[in-house]
Amino acid sequence: MSRYSRITGTGSYLPPHKVTNAELVSRLAAKGIETSDEWIVERSGIGARHFAAEGVFSSDLGLEAAKNALQAAGRIAQDVDLIIVATSTPDMVFPSTACILQGKLGCAGGAAFDVQAVCSGFVYALTVADALIKAGSARCALVIGAEIFSRILDFNDRGTCVLFGDGAGAVVLEASDTPGILSSDLHADGKHVDLLCVPGHVSGGAIAGVPLLKMEGQAVFKLAVGVLESAAHAVLEKAGKTETDIDWLIPHQANIRIMQSTAKKLKLSMDKVIVTVGEHGNTSAASIPLALDFGVRSGKVQRGQTLLLEGVGGGFTWGAVLLNF
Ligand code: UT7
Repeated sequence: MSRYSRITGTGSYLPPHKVTNAELVSRLAAKGIETSDEWIVERSGIGARHFAAEGVFSSDLGLEAAKNALQAAGRIAQDVDLIIVATSTPDMVFPSTACILQGKLGCAGGAAFDVQAVCSGFVYALTVADALIKAGSARCALVIGAEIFSRILDFNDRGTCVLFGDGAGAVVLEASDTPGILSSDLHADGKHVDLLCVPGHVSGGAIAGVPLLKMEGQAVFKLAVGVLESAAHAVLEKAGKTETDIDWLIPHQANIRIMQSTAKKLKLSMDKVIVTVGEHGNTSAASIPLALDFGVRSGKVQRGQTLLLEGVGGGFTWGAVLLNF
């Protein structure tokens, strides 16, 4: 009998401090940096984002999302034999955020590691977990996207600091006799490393370079629009499906205009797109599982529906996962 993997529960967590555009605009104005709610909303669709408190780490946000997902799946921590955390803002250089989270969850023994593919991290992690389950190496995986981007933002750069936020989303992915994950398509193009990066590293106990996010927004925008369309067509073709089979598009939440453009290219109405960017901002690897959980808990996303998850971001990386929920 074929072995498949299927999402059996979703969860998410946002740190309590919600920072509205108005709050951020006045915070930046105090530093002499000019921006406005109108600009942020018009160019990105973002109205607010959440920032984690001092002393809170990605593993803490991921832990809360994981607990919610386990509860939704009717599982306990001891059932989990694989944890993959997608993050670009790990708690430490090492060990992995997944190991730290596993310790906090109290379920030693299974494999735990991080995936670093920036905003495509969740679709990468989900694809790896699916492959390990299909290979018989795991039965019950926690796949988590968790980020604290507020710590790597340059609050002197108005072109980036208004866009990102903190949060976590998680799914429980389990072995199944019937297909959940239908197809995946992952890519990277390392010649675009400089378009979106945090060009700093630890060296001899000090930071070498600038450990703050740098982005060429327009170039990233143009690349994103093209690759999201091609990845969508690739997963549909691999699964023998067409655009009309998609019940929900759940894209990386970077910019409402990128989502609108992707939906248009796939001939989908915006009514079929889960949009959380307005309230969450861009939470990088956390954005897709956060949006998925929002879709599920709001009653929009139903069991049996076909979902297209799509990520794109630094690396340059991009990818898609088509699944039966
Ligand atoms: O998560 C990974 C993937 N990331 C993305 O997909 C992000 C992709 N890029 C984008 O979403 C958009 O390019 C941005 C939202 C980052 C920027 O939107 P844009 O329409 O491409 O604006 P722009 O960078 O071309 O800037 C237009 C103007 C510039 O002024 P001038 O040169 O026209 O006078 C900027 O200096 O807007 C100015 N500007 C701002 N003005 C007010 C840039 N940031 C701000 C700001 N407030 N915060």
